[in-house]
Amino acid sequence: MSEHGTETTRRWTLRGAHTEYVVTVPAHGRWLELGAWGPHGVSDGPSPVAYDGPVPFLTAGDAAPIEYATDADRPFTGADLVVETTTGHRRVAFDFVEAAHDPAAGTLAVTFADPVTGLRAVLRYAVAAGTDVVRRRVELTNTGTEPLQLARVGSGGFCVPTPHGALLSHQWGQWSQEFQLEHVDLKHGAFTIGSSQGVPGHLHVPWLAVRDRAEPDGPAWAVAVAWTGSWEITAERDTGGLTRVRAGRRLPDGPLELPAGGALTLPEVAGAYSTAGLDGLARVWHRYQRVLAGDRLVPRPVLYNSWEATYFAVDAKSQLELAGIAADLGVETFVVDDGWFVGRDDDTAGLGDWTPDPAKFPDGFEAFVAEVRGLGLRFGLWVEPECVNPRSRLYAEHPDWVYQVDGRPLTPIRNQYLLDLGRPEVAEFVHSTLDGLLRRYDIAYLKWDFNRPRTEPGRAGADGPLDLDGAHVSALHRIYERLRRDHPDVLIESCAGGGARTDLAMAARADIFWPSDNTAPLDRLAIQHGFLHANAPHLLSSWVTDAPGIFDPRPRSLAFRFVLAMAGVLGIGADIRHWTPQQRAEAADWISRYKEIREVVTHGEVHLIGGPDQARCAVQYTSPDGRRVVVLAWHTGRSDGPGQLPSRPVRLPLRGLDPAGRYRHDERSYSGSHLSAVGVPVQWTPTHDAELIVLDRE
Ligand code: DGJ
Repeated sequence: MSEHGTETTRRWTLRGAHTEYVVTVPAHGRWLELGAWGPHGVSDGPSPVAYDGPVPFLTAGDAAPIEYATDADRPFTGADLVVETTTGHRRVAFDFVEAAHDPAAGTLAVTFADPVTGLRAVLRYAVAAGTDVVRRRVELTNTGTEPLQLARVGSGGFCVPTPHGALLSHQWGQWSQEFQLEHVDLKHGAFTIGSSQGVPGHLHVPWLAVRDRAEPDGPAWAVAVAWTGSWEITAERDTGGLTRVRAGRRLPDGPLELPAGGALTLPEVAGAYSTAGLDGLARVWHRYQRVLAGDRLVPRPVLYNSWEATYFAVDAKSQLELAGIAADLGVETFVVDDGWFVGRDDDTAGLGDWTPDPAKFPDGFEAFVAEVRGLGLRFGLWVEPECVNPRSRLYAEHPDWVYQVDGRPLTPIRNQYLLDLGRPEVAEFVHSTLDGLLRRYDIAYLKWDFNRPRTEPGRAGADGPLDLDGAHVSALHRIYERLRRDHPDVLIESCAGGGARTDLAMAARADIFWPSDNTAPLDRLAIQHGFLHANAPHLLSSWVTDAPGIFDPRPRSLAFRFVLAMAGVLGIGADIRHWTPQQRAEAADWISRYKEIREVVTHGEVHLIGGPDQARCAVQYTSPDGRRVVVLAWHTGRSDGPGQLPSRPVRLPLRGLDPAGRYRHDERSYSGSHLSAVGVPVQWTPTHDAELIVLDRE
C-alpha cells in the first residue's frame, strides 16, 4: 500500500511484535519527527517527545524530535547531515516530497528534497517481523548539477524521553578486555563513543542504551550501528529532558564527495525498545540477531582451536596429537589457527601467502586434513586475508595494494599492513584466495581474523576524496555474502584481535563472533556479561583454557571454565596434551552435557541474573516451549565458611516461569512461584564454584 502524504495523513506507524514507532511530517514539511516510540498503544495520548513553549536563542528544530536533521534544521544542537557545496556553502534544507508506507510489510520510505542543491534523501524504515527493532537507512542522491561535499553523514537520530535525567549504558574496552558494561548519568550535554579505526574496534561497541534516571528497571531504548567500519554514537540530553541519540558513520578521512548524479546509501542503524530494562533489551537484540541468522540459527559445533596450545609452532604432528585428544573428548570441529602457511613462524612474515607450509605438513595439507577428518572431526582454518606482512611474496609483488599516502612512510601494526579492499583487484584476490582454499580443502569452518586498524587514509596514485572506509566495508560484506552463498555449509567466525569486529552488519553475515583473546575465567565472565547484553548466545564463541586472569587473577576450577564457555558456543583452547586423565574425563563429561543443552542455549529466551560484580551471577535460558530451563551460574566472590558457620545459599531468582507450574532439577521439584520469588539455591564452596542446572517442567 502506498500513501502519498497530505496535511492530514502525514503520520505513519511501524509496528513491531510489542512496539510501535510513530513518525510524522509537521505542517511545514521540512522534516520527519518522532511522535512516540514504546509499547503498542503508546501513541494514543500526548506525545512524550513533543515540546511546549518558546525556544529562546535556539530554533524550533533544535528542540524538535527530528528523525533526520540537517544543519539547517538543527543548527545548534547537533545535525545528522552536513553538506557543503563547491562554493563552500553549508545548509541543506529539505522539503517533504512523498511517502510510501506498507503496514503489512512493516516498511516506510519518506522522501525529502533540497530545492537549492538538488540533494534528495529517502528515509527508509523497516521492522523485522516478530521483533521490536526498528531498522533505519538513508539513501542520498545528488540530483543537482554540482558535486556536493558530505561533511557529516549520520544515519539518523533516535529520540528518547528522559525527563528525570538520562541513564546511558555502553560497553568500553581494550584488547583483552572488551565489552565492559558501564553506566553514565547524563544530566546535561553530550556523550560520544565511536571508532576511527576502519573497524568497529575494541574501544567501544557500536551500541548504546538509554533509560530514564527514575526508572532503571523500566522502559529501555537502545541504538546500534550496523557498520563494520568507523562509526559514532552521540547521546545529547537537552534541558527539556529529551535525549537524542545520533548514530552512523564517522568520517576520519574527511568529507565524502557526492558527484552530480551520484548516490550513497548510509549504513543501517537499529533502535530497540523493551519495557524491562537492560535485561529485556538484551532479549530484543537476541531475537533480532536470530532473525538475521535465518536458517543458519542452529547449534554450532563444539570446537577445538589450537592457538593457545601451539601458537605459531604449527605442524602436522602437534595438530594431529591435539586433534586425536579433542576427538576423544567429544569435540566436533578442529580449527588450526595462525601459523599454517608459508613463511609464518611468527608475526613478522607470511601474511598474504596463503599456501600451506610444506615443511609443516610434509605429507601435504590434503593428507593432513584427511587425517583430521578421519578422526570424525570437521576441519577449520584461521585466515587474515585483508592483511599482508612486508615480508611476504604478496607484498613484494603488489606493494601498491596496501593503503598508503604517496610519499609518506607506512605505519606497521603487528608488523603488517592493510590491503586496500576497495580496489577491485584486491577484493578479487581476497575472495579467490578464500574461495580457493574452501574448494581445495575439506574445510567446514573459517576463523576470519583482522589484527590491525587502518592508519593510512590514501590509495597509491589516487587523489581527491576517496571513501576508503565505505569501499572496504562494502567489499568485505560482499565477500562474506559470496562465500556464504557458494559455501553454505561453512561457518565463518568473525575475529579482530579478539572482539574488534562485532556489529549488526557482521551478525547478519558471520555465524559467530570471537569476543576476546582473554579466556581467563573471571575476566571472561565480565566480557561475556557485556557481550550478551547486545549479542545473542549463538554468536558467543568461548574457549576453555588454562589461562590465568589478567585483570582478576583469582583462580577458578575447570568446571567454572566449562560452564562459562557453555554460555554460548563451547570451544576448547587449552593445551589438552597436558591435561591429566581426570581433567580429560571431566572435559568429556561437560562436553556431552553441553550437547544436551545447546539447543536451549541457541534458541532459548535469555535472562541475565545479577552480574560479575554481584554475589549472584547467572544466565537463564528458557526453551521456546517453556519446558526446559537451563541456568548457568558462577561464583564471583569468597565462600562464606559453609559447613563451619551458619550460612545460606545464594539464590538465583528465575524469570518468565509459570508460577503454577512445577519444575524438576535432579531429585528436587520446585514450583514456578518459588523459583521466581525465592530462586534456585546454589551453595558455593572453595571447590564448587560453578553450576549447570537443568530444570524440566513436570
Ligand atoms: C588474534 C586472535 O584474536 C587470536 O585468537 C589468534 O587467532 C591470533 N590473532 C593469531 O594471530
